[in-house]
Order: sequence, then C-alpha cells, then structure tokens
Amino acid sequence: MRDPLLSIEDLVVEFRDPHRPGGVLRAVDGVSLTIAPGEILGLVGESGSGKTTLGKTILRLYEPREGRLRLKGLDITHLDEAGLRPHRRAMQMVFQDPLSSFNPRHTVGEALAVPLRLHRLCAPSDLAARVARSLEEVGLRPDFADRYPHQMSGGQLQRAAIGRALTLSPELIVADEAVSKLDVSVRAQILNLLRAVQARTGLAMVFITHDLHVARFLCHRIAVMHFGKLLEIGPTEDVFQHPQHDYTRALLGTLHAREARARTPS
Ligand SMILES: Nc1ncnc2c1ncn2[C@@H]1O[C@H](COP(=O)(O)OP(=O)(O)O)[C@@H](O)[C@H]1O
Ligand SMILES: [Mg+2]
Repeated sequence: MRDPLLSIEDLVVEFRDPHRPGGVLRAVDGVSLTIAPGEILGLVGESGSGKTTLGKTILRLYEPREGRLRLKGLDITHLDEAGLRPHRRAMQMVFQDPLSSFNPRHTVGEALAVPLRLHRLCAPSDLAARVARSLEEVGLRPDFADRYPHQMSGGQLQRAAIGRALTLSPELIVADEAVSKLDVSVRAQILNLLRAVQARTGLAMVFITHDLHVARFLCHRIAVMHFGKLLEIGPTEDVFQHPQHDYTRALLGTLHAREARARTPS
C-alpha cells in the first residue's frame, strides 16, 4: 500500500455532555484508520455515531482529546492556526446544506474567488477567468458567477460548493451528507460529478453518509461507525457481502429489507 495521505491513530474527541453537569460525551472513541491518496472512503453509521465529528476533527475544526493525526507523515494534531495554514489548503469540506454554506450577499463568483485571493493563488486580473473555469469543471455555465445563492437550485449550489472546494486543488475533501438533501434525480448527478472529479484530480475523499446505497455506489472502502467507535473497515463489496459485525448486518438488513419491499409489487 502507498504511504497514507492521512493517518488517524487512536483518536478521541469529547464534548461537554449537556445532560450531565461536568460530564463528557465521547463523540469519537479511539478511532484509527488511514486514507490512501486517491481513495474514496465511506464513513457510514446511524445519526449520532460520530461521523461528522470525525470528519471535522480530520480537518482540525475540532481539537482531539487524544490520539494523532498525520498528513503525509507530518503530525498536525496540535498545530496552531499559523502552523495549520499551509495545510488547510490540502483539506476542504463540502457540507449537507449548500445554501447555508454560501454568504447570501455574495455572488457565487465572489464566493469562489475568496479562497484564491486569500491564498494569493491567482493574479487579480486572472480571477474572473479562473472562477469561470472552476464553474465549468463542475458543470455550471460561466454566467453562474453573477448569480446569488438564492437564485440557484440545490443541485446547482452543491456543484458550486464542490467547485469552491476544488479551487485550492486539495488532496482531501471531506463531504458530509453532501447529497442527502437533494432530490433523488439530482443526487445521482452530484454523485457522478464527485466520482468524475476524483478520477480527474486524483484527490482523496472522506464521504460521510447514512445512506448505504450511496456509499456502495461511490466508495472504494467503507468504515462503519457506531457510538463513536470504528466497528469495521474494508473494501466496499467485502463489507456489503461479508459484514463482520452484527451491527453492520443490521444496518445492511434494513437496506435489504427496503430493497425487497421496493421489488415487491404492491
Ligand atoms: N458541537 C457539539 N457539541 C456537543 N456535542 C456534540 C457536538 N457535535 C456532536 N455532538 C454529539 O456527539 C455525538 C456524535 O455526533 P455527530 O458527530 O454529529 O454524529 P453523526 O454525524 O454520525 O450524526 C452525538 O451524541 C452529538 O450529540
Ligand atoms: Mg452528521
């Protein structure tokens, strides 16, 4: 196996427990895994299992209580903001709700220009052309640069959010329920876009979803989370065909039951 892009070792993330004064809640409880360059890793599990917390901690949006994060061998677990800055570019996030991830008062073109300007990646005179190219890469016409978020559909906005994440040529994208709010027909288009983007750029992706169908379609490997712990991890078809844990079987069981119902004419 190639050197991992990211390695996570015995990661623990805790929050204050709102229901017990002084108590803590372990949202991520000793998770270890690696992500290879160019890999799409699916993070699945029920709501509350710690998927989002793990994804955000990978990007150092949350501080881990214990454990290590290594990006290409470099320990980034406790780097401060200044130390993180050069690595922030390498890792980007795409969220579930594209509308809330854009500033309503900025056009989409302005939103895509911000990271380029911040990181001084582009001469001001080239910004417009660079933004137009980013939009085209995610299947949006260049004139979408002049639109405001409320003038776009959910699918168009999620394309723009993916385009914005790609402007900095990241090596890793964490996509958190990125298609969950979209209509089924649009969902397939965005999944195909993510797959095409991954193949073209070679970036790695942590794809967080509670939808096992979606995970099976997109992901090379699947990691199953349950109450903050990593229950099992393996190549997608191995996990689907030979789940190691009763919990995974139960998750898949609900999937198979749904499939069976869908096949049964009513
Ligand atoms: N910012 C936070 N503050 C306090 N508790 C949180 C926070 N984020 C998540 N949690 C708690 O951590 C656990 C895992 O949540 P989360 O990572 O959002 O799970 P998932 O994404 O799998 O639904 C839940 O019990 C949740 O209530
Ligand atoms: Mg979540």
